[in-house]
Amino acid sequence: MSHLSGKRVLLGVTGGIAAYKSAILIRYLREAGADVHVVMTASARAFIGTLTLQALSGHPVHEDLMDPAQEAAMGHIQLARWADLVLVAPATANFMARLAHGLADDLLSALCLATTAPIALAPAMNREMWRNPVTQQNKALLESRGMLFWGPGEGAQACGESGPGRLLEAEQLARRVQDWFAPGDLRGVGVLLTAGPTREPLDPVRFLGNRSSGKMGYALATALAEAGAEVCLVSGPVSLDCPAGISRVMVETAMEMYDAVMERVVDCALFVAAAAVADYRPASVSAQKLKKKEHEVEISLVPNPDILAEVAALPHPPFTVGFAAETERLEEYAETKRRAKGIDMIAANLVDAPEGGFERDENALTLLWEGGHERFPLAPKSLLAPQLAARIAEHFHAKVTAEDS
Ligand code: C5P
Repeated sequence: MSHLSGKRVLLGVTGGIAAYKSAILIRYLREAGADVHVVMTASARAFIGTLTLQALSGHPVHEDLMDPAQEAAMGHIQLARWADLVLVAPATANFMARLAHGLADDLLSALCLATTAPIALAPAMNREMWRNPVTQQNKALLESRGMLFWGPGEGAQACGESGPGRLLEAEQLARRVQDWFAPGDLRGVGVLLTAGPTREPLDPVRFLGNRSSGKMGYALATALAEAGAEVCLVSGPVSLDCPAGISRVMVETAMEMYDAVMERVVDCALFVAAAAVADYRPASVSAQKLKKKEHEVEISLVPNPDILAEVAALPHPPFTVGFAAETERLEEYAETKRRAKGIDMIAANLVDAPEGGFERDENALTLLWEGGHERFPLAPKSLLAPQLAARIAEHFHAKVTAEDS
């Protein structure tokens, strides 16, 4: 932990027994270099002392929306603007409900309405409160507005029961904050990434294509570059600008993408296939525009190479990450695909679900690897990408270290 230097974290503490973990969290965040301001709700004060949080954060704790002295020192709008990240830990069911409905009658909820910084919630509550449909609906509503949910974890609860609803441990939360700001460290790592659709021409004016916008791939390329990687992006036709600090090769067809990848793959340690590559191309491409016919027309298609599978089958393959768009049985089909292609990780999403996929700015993904998986709830692709990049970096380093030892 050392990457949070200069980062400004606004920590909201709401009233739950897990509030004691926020004290340790503040210590970890400050040790990592973050500047932390704490905002407590009235009920949080029943669980943890203001003085404790003040001493640990090194700043007076903000408590009251209507306190003229506090507002004069650093008003709620100023605080909302100050934050790079708002983290509410613990976040109670009551606070989630208030946030979901836009209430702003205390300092923390007013801040959450006023800030443009990302908001992460670390829920903590009894398992039945967590499972209650109203809490789940509030969660879905908040996620649909781009709020992040970190946890809850599962296990023994203060009420004597066991199940989902435990606040993540302070160390895990500090780790999430770090991942958020610096998604893993990929300094100097060569990354080759495919993104966007391909176009398979039928004649000089027509092609077979697909609905991929390239947004997820471009967001991931940006996040990997921000983590220090040297990213080369092989992109199908999209209407997106090349992200800063990335070299881009534009291609049209799957065969062009294949050639561009195979030419460069020796230089990369990590290959991410985010492109929606056409599985088939027309067997022949007419040199002239095809004329309209009165009768039925058949188009003969031949298979394209599976770029990802071929990269994974190289004698010395890079660490490989694929994407899987499924319409049902997401995790089962994606894991089968991961094994069939012989790749390290696969990010799977439901394409016909309301929560994201092609042409959308938001997505919900499940990342799968050998023996594990992690779900990333609906979030703007630009917010999802750094989290994905962090997990990819973690697994990449774990594999490289294991191979080296
Ligand atoms: O088999 P399926 O097309 O569902 O696999 C999707 C994954 O494989 C994506 O990561 C995609 O970029 C990659 N792929 C590829 N070349 C193909 C087809 C898919 O690299 N011809």
